[in-house]
Amino acid sequence: MKKNYLIAVEGIDGAGKSTQIPKIAQYFEARGCTVCLTAEPTKGPFGQRIRAAQTRLDPRTERQLFVDDRKEHLVTCILPALERGEVVITDRYFYSSVAYQGTRRDALKNSEDIEALHDLQDDIAEQNRLYSPEADILIYLRLDVDTALERMRSGREALDPFEKKQTLQDVSDAFDRLVKDHPQALVVDASLMPDEVTAQIYAGLDRITGE
Ligand code: TYD
Repeated sequence: MKKNYLIAVEGIDGAGKSTQIPKIAQYFEARGCTVCLTAEPTKGPFGQRIRAAQTRLDPRTERQLFVDDRKEHLVTCILPALERGEVVITDRYFYSSVAYQGTRRDALKNSEDIEALHDLQDDIAEQNRLYSPEADILIYLRLDVDTALERMRSGREALDPFEKKQTLQDVSDAFDRLVKDHPQALVVDASLMPDEVTAQIYAGLDRITGE
């Protein structure tokens, strides 16, 4: 089995990435691979600036910070680990930039212009592909927005619920759109019980890795 897969795990907030990522690591470890677990935004200087922001930054600044963070992430972590022959599993990758920064309607002249929103997403993808290798496997934990909101509501203070729902729906639509273009996307139904989600992921990984 090929050892140095680059695996990106994506999904809207509440999709259950943090539950599934250790299971994905176990899959590869059980097959003798060394796994490097990592995440974006990183804990580096740019990632810290992103996390320190109390409100959303203006669209250009936000987009650039994720670019800077990712460049550093690739050079200091992802690419060296792949060179060492490790399986790299990243909790979010440039697909999140397409989905999140690519749904900043406030960056558009007309916020209702869906074509312009798609152009923004394509532009972000193109910019990122200049320096970021495509993930060998994109695992997309797909969850409908209402279920995600229900899961998130426990404990968190809601913003304007309508606005939040619209934003999440945009992000979700953007993920749906981008996985269609990916050569090896594993789209998983994240509304199922955690064990069932893991089973779906494992079945997909068996198929892709030829195990
Ligand atoms: P994080 O604290 O890691 O949350 P989560 O557990 O949901 O991943 O923060 C990640 C947030 O950053 C998440 O809301 C998505 C966003 N994000 C972007 O907007 N663009 C990006 O390129 C990345 C990697 C993340």
